[in-house]
Amino acid sequence: MGLTETEKNLAPDHARRVREMFARISPRYDLLNHLLSANIDRSWRRAVVRRLQPLLKTNAPVLDVACGTGDLSIALFEKTAAQIVGVDFCRPMLEIAARKAPQLHFVEGDALRLPFADSSFDAVTIGFGLRNLASVEDGLAELRRVLKSEGWLAVLEFSKPVVPGIRSLVSLYYQQLLPWIGGLLSGSRSAYEYLPDSIAQFPDQEKLVALMREVGFEAVAFENLTGGIAALHTGRRA
Ligand SMILES: C[S@@+](CC[C@H](N)C(=O)[O-])C[C@H]1O[C@@H](n2cnc3c(N)ncnc32)[C@H](O)[C@@H]1O
Repeated sequence: MGLTETEKNLAPDHARRVREMFARISPRYDLLNHLLSANIDRSWRRAVVRRLQPLLKTNAPVLDVACGTGDLSIALFEKTAAQIVGVDFCRPMLEIAARKAPQLHFVEGDALRLPFADSSFDAVTIGFGLRNLASVEDGLAELRRVLKSEGWLAVLEFSKPVVPGIRSLVSLYYQQLLPWIGGLLSGSRSAYEYLPDSIAQFPDQEKLVALMREVGFEAVAFENLTGGIAALHTGRRA
């Protein structure tokens, strides 16, 4: 489990490339998110909020990891009475988040070495962030570390479409259209080539369930969103 020695040596380079890529596309990130998903990304973040809402007490501390420009943190803030903290290692993304929601607390930090003590949060969310980490297993273990016992993790991520017809269409879209439009509007075609590559390498619904259990989550379940184009996985710290 986790990284091999070779992967450990490559991890800092991976992190640097990911951080630089998000810094480059940060000014257009929100626009492209909404445009490339035909605004469906908003409903995916709302699904996270709906799932966590009944589990969160007033003022419950909640950490939104890889918060980027803050859309998931803001969606949680608007619909729950929790205390939301967003963390991300890309400063230009965080600066946009802070401009959009000055009332929220955003912190610069690495998801693989979170700047928080063990058992600090009632819930942890990560939206479209886990896929970008050098190790999914190590990321899940670090998210578990900062959760209180019985605290909830919600992972929102691209996944494997469950309907074969949709799968081929989505694959065509990822390979042909997305790098082209993304490149045109953000000025970084490589970032939008990286997106489908990283989705292809990310564990599918069932594999992610298995990884979450291995790392120490119980009551692990998932909900397919838009036919499995994305999925919301949840689990409780055992
Ligand atoms: C696709 S964006 C998602 C942003 C936001 N959660 C959303 O729903 O739009 C991925 C974010 O993960 C951040 N990220 C990637 N690897 C990270 C790491 N190791 N530590 C902290 N943030 C990381 C990037 O800087 C970027 O802001």
